Amino acid sequence: MFVCFFFNESDKYLILVTGGAGFIGSNFVLNWLNDSKCNEEIVVLDALTYAANPENFKNVKNQKFFHFVNQNIRNKEEIKKILQKFKPRAIIHFAAESHVDRSINSPTDFIETNVVGTFNLLDCSTEYYRSLNSKTTGNNGLSSENFRFIHISTDEVFGSLTTDDPPFTENSQYRPNSPYAASKASSDHLVRAWNKTYNLPTIISNCSNNYGPYQFPEKLIPLVIYNAINGKKIPIYGNGKQIRDWLYVEDHCKAISHILRFGEIGQTYNIGGESECENLQLVKKICKILDELVPKKNRKSTHKHEELIEFVKDRPGHDQRYGINSHKIRSSLNWKPSENLSSGLFKTISWYLKNIQWMNSVKNKSYEEWIKTNYEKR
Ligand code: NAD
Ligand code: TYD
Repeated sequence: MFVCFFFNESDKYLILVTGGAGFIGSNFVLNWLNDSKCNEEIVVLDALTYAANPENFKNVKNQKFFHFVNQNIRNKEEIKKILQKFKPRAIIHFAAESHVDRSINSPTDFIETNVVGTFNLLDCSTEYYRSLNSKTTGNNGLSSENFRFIHISTDEVFGSLTTDDPPFTENSQYRPNSPYAASKASSDHLVRAWNKTYNLPTIISNCSNNYGPYQFPEKLIPLVIYNAINGKKIPIYGNGKQIRDWLYVEDHCKAISHILRFGEIGQTYNIGGESECENLQLVKKICKILDELVPKKNRKSTHKHEELIEFVKDRPGHDQRYGINSHKIRSSLNWKPSENLSSGLFKTISWYLKNIQWMNSVKNKSYEEWIKTNYEKR
């Protein structure tokens, strides 16, 4: 079950979700709207970059609780107007450029969206926050006392672990290695500073690699599924021995709603799936599930999916291992992941097999260009 926020059943509340048309944002918004106990409206603010898919909202777009604004967080004047117009009681900030390989190829967008965009949002939010009454007076649950700014970040800000290191805690040192990680680390620092200096009620979450429905097939898991079912080679960077912790997206969304409801202002929370796995092992697991789920007669290649694996040149600065210690959110906010890697992968692969059309809809010219840039020109 999702955890919604109630002040009073008759009140009207609204939260603003930046980047809500991307992978995690879409899952968050759909889970929120599908929970019959939620009586809170959602405004999705999204610039609809290549990573967004407004079609994700086809079943909710006519709901009165759902609003969509096509806007860019780089545009400060427009952000101010949107806050004044919708008067959210919380902002959940997902909007970002999120792919490490793209950040290596063209870092500018990462600085402009993840750093400058987050700064714009913080600055506009502070002005808006100061304009709120300290206690709730209207029927929209709105007061500076209730307002929250939740910043969604990543474990990649902590850099890379060796196999023997303990997993990252909230106190781990920031040591970002990729332009993506550095831009997210910068945004975390800005969020912290806006809390300390301007008392903006912020909370930061740093989570591990998410997977699940609606993920753009440039990231490892959907790319492997997409290539495997189309009989294409499955590219593994370097020796495939790098380790990631995998968090099923619905578990992440539940963690965010716990943070929104129960999280302590000024705190950061690590969120992990407790599912560390070497890339090569992960890819083999996906191939095995596909062998089970896709009958031989429906396969593009008659071989076992694993035979499509191909080792390719490594990513520069490739982090060896990410691992998360989730003790704090488990003990203080009573959250824990529901899925393990096997159950989460099974759900995920089943979803993609049922939604092949969704996969095909994102396979446009710009996607093909990216695949050429990242793999053929490697
Ligand atoms: P995504 O790339 O799938 O989606 C990002 C969304 O942000 C897209 O809808 C895009 O259109 C929007 N966006 C990008 N630039 C924008 C701008 N300038 N103005 C407004 N909207 C803009 O990303 P995701 O995987 O859903 O990640 C969401 C957040 O979670 C990001 O902040 C990311 O850093 C963080 N995160 C992701 C993962 C993961 O495994 N996917 C792990 C840890 C943290
Ligand atoms: P990715 O999904 O891009 O997430 P991140 O880089 O943020 O962890 O990649 C996950 C792991 O898989 C990472 O170690 C890089 C590796 N990888 C491949 O081996 N091949 C690929 O084609 C991709 C996209 C990633």
